[in-house]
Formats: sequence, C-alpha cells, structure tokens
Amino acid sequence: MVPYYLLFKTSQREHVMRNVKFQAAIWRSVELGALALIVVLAFPGWMSAREAADTVVTFTRDVAPILQEKCQACHRQDSIAPMSLVTYEESRPWAKAIRERVITRQMPPWHIDKTVGIQQFKNDRSLTEEQIATIVRWVDSGAPKGDAKDMPPAKQWPDESKWNFASLYGPPDLIIKSPDWTVPTVALDQWYKPVVETGLTEPRWVRAIEIRPASVKGRKVTHHALARLQQDEPSNEPRRTDAAASADDFSPGPGAGLFMEWAVGKQGEIMRPNSGKLMLPGSKIIFEMHYHAVGEQITDHVELGIYFYPKGQEPKFRQTLAALQSVAGGSRNIDIPPNSTFVSQNFIPMRQAGRIENFQPHMHLRGKAMSMEAILPNGRTLMLSHVNNFNFNWHNNYVYADDAAPLLPKGTILKITSWYDNTTANPHNPDPSQWVGFGDRTVDEMGHAWVNITYMSDEDYQVEVAKRKPTEQQE
Ligand code: HEC
Repeated sequence: MVPYYLLFKTSQREHVMRNVKFQAAIWRSVELGALALIVVLAFPGWMSAREAADTVVTFTRDVAPILQEKCQACHRQDSIAPMSLVTYEESRPWAKAIRERVITRQMPPWHIDKTVGIQQFKNDRSLTEEQIATIVRWVDSGAPKGDAKDMPPAKQWPDESKWNFASLYGPPDLIIKSPDWTVPTVALDQWYKPVVETGLTEPRWVRAIEIRPASVKGRKVTHHALARLQQDEPSNEPRRTDAAASADDFSPGPGAGLFMEWAVGKQGEIMRPNSGKLMLPGSKIIFEMHYHAVGEQITDHVELGIYFYPKGQEPKFRQTLAALQSVAGGSRNIDIPPNSTFVSQNFIPMRQAGRIENFQPHMHLRGKAMSMEAILPNGRTLMLSHVNNFNFNWHNNYVYADDAAPLLPKGTILKITSWYDNTTANPHNPDPSQWVGFGDRTVDEMGHAWVNITYMSDEDYQVEVAKRKPTEQQE
C-alpha cells in the first residue's frame, strides 16, 4: 500500500489536481510525476472520489428533501421540536448541531441497533446511511444553499384538527378525553397519569386507534402520550401489567394492554388483518402524558379516538399487551450502587404460540440499552431487537412490519435484558453519587418492555408460518 504521507503530499498540490487538465498536470510536474501516478494506480476509487467532491451538496437540491421526509414532522412551526427545519434560513444556523445529532443517530429519534435483529418496521423514521452521508457532506462543505430553483415545494401536512382514519371508517366510534392539564411558562418536565372510564356497557373489538393532543398549542407541550387499557379479564388468572408486579404475573397470555403511544407525525394504528383488541364493559383508560414547558402557559388535554369493528364482526386474533419484565423477580430487585453499572435479565415463557408485534423498552434516566431475544423450544436463540442507544426522552415504539413480526411457537422463552449506567459516562445521569432502586420518579428506575402479542393456536401458528416466504421463517 502507498503510505498515507504520500497521499498527503499529493494533496498539497490540490489546486493543480482540481484542474480539469489533471492528468496532464501529473505528467508535467517533475516533482510529483511518478508519485502521483502510483497513488492513482493504487487507489482506483480515488479519481471518482475526487469527482464526487466536485459535485457540491446543496440545501435546496439534496438536503431539503431529507428534512421534509424525516425531520419536519416535528421540526416545523407549532410542533414539538425546539426549531423549524423548513427553510434554508431556519436550518442553516443548526448545521453543526444537525451533523452531530444525525451521525450519533440521536435524530430522528430511532435508537435501535441497526446491526442486529429485525430491521423491517412499520414506523421506521431513521435516516439511511446515504442520507446521513449527504447531510455530513453538506455541513462539511460549508452548508451552501444552492439554486433556489431546486427547492422542492413545501410539504403539505394533514389537517390536525381532523381524525386521520375518519376517511376510512367515518369518525371514531368512541372518543375518550384526558382531563385538562396546565403546563406553566417555566417548569421541569411533568408526567400526568389520569384514569378515565370508557363507559362501555358491552364488549367491542377495536380495529384502529388514534391519540392526539386536542389543540395545536397542546402539540408543543405534549412530548409523548400513552393510553393503556385497564380491564378485568373474565379468565381466572390474575394479570398485572404494572411494572412492580412480580415476574410470574407477566407470563404472557390474553389480557388488557397498551393502546398506543402518540408521537408527533404518527398516523395512529390500524390492527393487522383479522386482528383486534377487545375492550370490555367497565374498562378504563390509563393515560400517561409527558409534558414539557415551552415558555408559554398552555392548557390542553389528550384525545383517544377508537374505531370499532362493526358489531357481530369479530376478528380471529386478539392482540394483547404485556409488560415483559427485564429484571428477574420484578423491578423491585433493581439495585444500582453509586458510580456503577447494572445489568439484569429475565426469562418469560410463552404458554401459547404467538406473533410479537412490537418492542417498546421502558426505563428511566439510568437506562442505557434493552434487548429482546427468543429462545426457541429447539434451543436456538434469536435476537429480535436491541435498543442500544436508549434515551428516556423518547419512548419509541418499534412496530414490526407485517411480514417481519416474529412468529414464535408455544414454549418459546422471551429473554429481556436491560443495561443501566449510573456513572458520569451517562450524560442523562442527574447524580451518579446516588444509589438507585425501583420507583415511579424519573430518578428511580424501572425495567420492562411493552410488547403486543397476538396469541394463536398451534394450527393457526402453522398456517401463519406457511404464509411467510421460506427465508423468513423462524425455524
Ligand atoms: C419525532 C419528532 C422529531 C423528529 C422526527 C426529529 N426531531 Fe429533532 N428534535 C425533536 C425534539 C423534541 C427535540 C428537542 C428534545 C431532544 O433533544 O430530544 C429535537 C432536537 C433536535 C436537535 C437539537 C436542537 C438543540 O437544541 O440543540 C437537532 C439538531 C435536531 N433535533 C435535528 C433533527 C433532524 C436533522 C431531524 C431529521 C433528520 C430530526 N431532528 C427529526 C423532535 C424530532
């Protein structure tokens, strides 16, 4: 190989090389001649890299389309992000910060390890490697604007005062509102968890749900909103879904569950074909809102819109939610001394075959990573998903694509592992000198994954497996 310093030497002649008469220049230059030729021969890709560098990456032609596709759902006027990334003038001051956030994959918020596990999701908002490279080249070349003619037309956003699925099903059959909450001008982040009765007097099957802050102003302060369904199951088995319950309470089986999480730009959720959630009489919705102050007092509430299957039309499969504990024996066993790290694992058997629909890790400020693996009855272990860049600000729900959602046989053991960092290496750590245990406050810890599972009989499982292309089968 040609030593690095030779490359460096030739690059001192950059002004010569940039010239279109580059080849001729090599031959004319006695000083460089042979040397440069070796470089060109030894690095066949070198010429094209140089040609590529001559093609300037501009905001209007190359970067604006990426921001429209992956950023503006949140980064525009009256949305949750702190600044708009719509025009060049708005984006240019943030160029350095944008570069940093995209190469560390903190933005867009999508914190899953791309090197292991399932990578096909219904709601993937991450950047491709190519998009990251384009943004980095744009910033590194001085973030030029480019030709105004190249600017794509401004992206049109759906009218937020309308329900998204109303065009498919008509208006929601049931709308459940959280009580109003006032976020002061200046305040620490707040978590509000009201419980609201659904008022249902008969069981109904749900085919789609949407959740949203009621007003445009509410979008600014509502960082995320969760809605969980709480109801008594007719089955005799007790089902606890709170994080404090012991591991045994969480062996997945039919039960209530998380309805959905609202995050800006999310359309809502339509159940997979022939699947639904069952809501029972006397059910309640447990809301969980994460509010943050934006320098203006704002009062708002969240609305959950529920679309039912028509009466008498029952989907074959029932989707239920489990809080899969990551700590053996339950979250109360979390025990993290000051200035130390902590790893925990838990094993949860599946008593029926099923399809895993999503993965949503839940930890607090010391949470660093969480993975979900499946140990099959034949002993083989599959990594399903690993969130290696967990950030408490973002309760991302990773929803598997229809033909990627893992189908697992009865007797599979789900293995959930969580990692915590209570040292100064964790930038979110409020105080590494504190001991940390289980609790509801953000300075305490938890460890579970919210996972929707669609249980099915062994026969139905075989049918579902057969529908997948052979390469995508689990066994
Ligand atoms: C789901 C909503 C969402 C999406 C999509 C999103 N952002 Fe953000 N972004 C936020 C929020 C909220 C913050 C402030 C809180 C935080 O930093 O987590 C933020 C913060 C940032 C910051 C740091 C601002 C500061 O004050 O330093 C940058 C830079 C950024 N985003 C760039 C981007 C880029 C570039 C994209 C697209 C490639 C993107 N974001 C996509 C919501 C989003």
